[in-house]
Amino acid sequence: MDLGDGILLRPLLPGDGAELAAAYTRNRARLAPWEPFRSEDFFTTERQHALVEESLRSVADGRSAAFVLSDAGGRIVGRVNLGDIVRGAFWSAHLGYWIDEDASGRGIMRRAVQAVCAQARDEIGLHRVQAATLVHNVASQRVLRAAGFTEIGLAPRYLRIAGEWQDHLLFQRILEDPVDGSP
Ligand SMILES: CC(C)(COP(=O)(O)OP(=O)(O)OC[C@H]1O[C@@H](n2cnc3c(N)ncnc32)[C@H](O)[C@@H]1OP(=O)(O)O)[C@@H](O)C(=O)NCCC(=O)NCCS
Repeated sequence: MDLGDGILLRPLLPGDGAELAAAYTRNRARLAPWEPFRSEDFFTTERQHALVEESLRSVADGRSAAFVLSDAGGRIVGRVNLGDIVRGAFWSAHLGYWIDEDASGRGIMRRAVQAVCAQARDEIGLHRVQAATLVHNVASQRVLRAAGFTEIGLAPRYLRIAGEWQDHLLFQRILEDPVDGSP
């Protein structure tokens, strides 16, 4: 799917390890405050290849959905993931995402999140998507609100980010509810 400015949203593929290693290396300092602590080997092609294989097994098992953003030259410039897909009485998943600095600030992640929510509803049949942001991650909160998410509360010491258990704001979108400007 075309997100604008020549950037495409597509499923993660088995050969993406090298491009992901390059993307995480390029964005290492930028992503560090918003992600779990990463050891050195996380930035290698070998480790990324193994993580892609793990992720694709989880997709095949119906436990997640994994997408990348790629630019006109085929570089990976971001990711969107739906993880922890639970069915039963829940039909819910957790959303995560990041974008390369060069591609940020143009509404691309808002459109990517909207597209992934539409797929979660129409192809997986989910009822709800949840996301958690650090309390000071205003850019991410703006993406979520623009994509139809509602803040549902503060979870103290919810995720270990940058090596510390940190408070998070929780957001959800009920996928059956219409959202202005969203598919
Ligand atoms: C959060 C992130 C994905 C946003 O991606 P993006 O493509 O730049 O998002 P968009 O362009 O769709 O929207 C960004 C919004 O945040 C606003 N914004 C950007 N930086 C901001 C800041 N420091 N303070 C306040 N608002 C900010 C923009 O003005 C825009 O708002 P608008 O749509 O109302 O104009 C990106 O900044 C990123 O990858 N951050 C690091 C990783 C991360 O935080 N991931 C999410 C973890 S919950």
